[in-house]
Amino acid sequence: MQHQNILFTNNVSDAISSILASKEFNRLFVITDSNTRHHVLPLLAHNPYIADAVNVNFEPGDIHKNLNSLASVWTQIGEAGGTRHSLVINLGGGVVTDLGGFAASTFKRGIPFINIPTTLLSAVDAAIGGKTGINFRGLKNEIGVFNEASDVIISTAFLGTLPLEEVKSGFAEMLKHGLLKGSDSCEALLNYRFDSGDHDHLLTLLKESVEIKADVVRQDPHEHGIRRALNLGHTAAHAFESFAMQQNAPIAHGYAVAWGLVIDAVLSHFVCSFDSKWIYRIADFVLKNYGAFRFTCDDYDALIRLMRHDKKSRQGEINCTLLGAPGDIRIDCEIAPEVMKEAFDLYRDLMHI
Ligand code: GLY
Repeated sequence: MQHQNILFTNNVSDAISSILASKEFNRLFVITDSNTRHHVLPLLAHNPYIADAVNVNFEPGDIHKNLNSLASVWTQIGEAGGTRHSLVINLGGGVVTDLGGFAASTFKRGIPFINIPTTLLSAVDAAIGGKTGINFRGLKNEIGVFNEASDVIISTAFLGTLPLEEVKSGFAEMLKHGLLKGSDSCEALLNYRFDSGDHDHLLTLLKESVEIKADVVRQDPHEHGIRRALNLGHTAAHAFESFAMQQNAPIAHGYAVAWGLVIDAVLSHFVCSFDSKWIYRIADFVLKNYGAFRFTCDDYDALIRLMRHDKKSRQGEINCTLLGAPGDIRIDCEIAPEVMKEAFDLYRDLMHI
């Protein structure tokens, strides 16, 4: 896989111009969803490349990350004269970078694309590392390819337009990266205050976080081993998300990751001697900023059933990424259901539920 160029700047228009000046293409397509078309595209409209580009749009939200939207994007590119020598910019959150990246990767067997993530969650996760695709037959990310954007422009300039909940969602993935990196990164993140509104400081933290992910992806682009480190917090997170969905009370992915990190901190303590001081630091931060995901002991079996059906599970076992300490990563830890139940008990104590 070719090396991905990741640029950190709060002057996105200049970054677009400098990247595009060195590329040859016959037509530029900017893929948006209706949110970024209305709220973000106009902020870049003065850029001469963007002013000349064809806007390709689809409906926002994960429910539209599907075959119909994909077909519509292919059609819009084809009808506007897209060829193999065209170039795509994906301007949006994870749904846009996933679907737009897949559309570009498959149109005429693949045209190059650039990601400009507009949410913290997509900047820190979806836009980096080449996972593209769509949901299919009710299964998330069922169809897709690994193919990296040639360039990613990362900025906090658009975050001001986002609800705080969105920023917190992305921050949970940053906390995950901090835990994978080491104590200093964790400290810096756990000391962050959302009410500071300090976007320059956030950009510094974001840069470090993206570099942590990019480094893991470089070592294992196709997720045969160490990339599974990025699943930290995600076994519980996916179970919480599915459980909440079944109760018709869906939760944001990043919030589920925050709660999942508390579960994995507890499991790491039980299984890998992870220092309990970190459990309390993480749980305090999560409770203060994300509140608690509430469930009772009557829900344990249902949650465990969901974990056994997680993508990471090979034969119905519960598979988690854990830590011996911040930065000491243990992938593919198999957790017995009784141990998971003990972790649920401690989680509920820590979350005061
Ligand atoms: N979101 C985890 C990964 O990109 O591997």
